[in-house]
Amino acid sequence: MSSSLSETGVAAPPEWTLASKDSVVHRNSWGPFLRRPESTDALAMHKLVADTEVLDLNSTYTYLLMATDFADTTIVADRDGDLCGLITGYHPPTRPDVLFVWQVAVARSAQGTGLAGTMLDSLVGRVHRARCGHPVTVEATVAPSNSASRALFGGFARRHGVPLVERPHFTAAQLDAAGAHDDEPILRIGPIVTSRDS
Ligand SMILES: CC(C)(COP(=O)(O)OP(=O)(O)OC[C@H]1O[C@@H](n2cnc3c(N)ncnc32)[C@H](O)[C@@H]1OP(=O)(O)O)[C@@H](O)C(=O)NCCC(=O)NCCS
Repeated sequence: MSSSLSETGVAAPPEWTLASKDSVVHRNSWGPFLRRPESTDALAMHKLVADTEVLDLNSTYTYLLMATDFADTTIVADRDGDLCGLITGYHPPTRPDVLFVWQVAVARSAQGTGLAGTMLDSLVGRVHRARCGHPVTVEATVAPSNSASRALFGGFARRHGVPLVERPHFTAAQLDAAGAHDDEPILRIGPIVTSRDS
């Protein structure tokens, strides 16, 4: 990964940029590897989501849209050309103060190292700056059984010292006629007035 692509503008330590994709990245040291997606990332984004074997897999065309039209509200982790994390998101058209987080995926090799939390902090910080410091509220739908995702958003709320409110939202019946999908209640976290990344 080129350090000029870094989300934070911080150059990666030399041992990381020289290392292979098997390099160890220490917990919460992901900042230099985060950046906006580009159109050339769409195939790798699609594969990363497929490899989770948990998330609903969308078409490559969808990830191409996220990497282009929605690049300002999407973030990827690129470790020496290995796309090992992503968060796709968007602003609901009538609610520009909301960052709706659509999918969060971290490669198995990188899970438990703080990558998802670091990406979320960085993305919210970017959106907060783009909104000239106006408050940002994060929303996401999370199945009751997805404990890792709930821990991610719970930790985010605690770090930022803001409430997390849960309400019913998309139902299993809306998501799958055969009942093979869980309910997806919505989590609303914020408003975040001062981001940790500003
Ligand atoms: C959910 C996921 C994105 C977390 O990524 P990660 O980089 O391992 O998460 P982090 O290391 O940043 O941890 C974030 C928080 O979740 C907790 N956590 C991580 N994995 C967990 C697990 N399997 N079970 C319970 N808690 C977990 C961490 O302890 C941390 O909590 P803290 O902030 O209180 O310290 C990752 O496991 C994944 O891609 N899973 C498959 C896809 C998925 O379920 N996506 C979420 C749908 S939105």
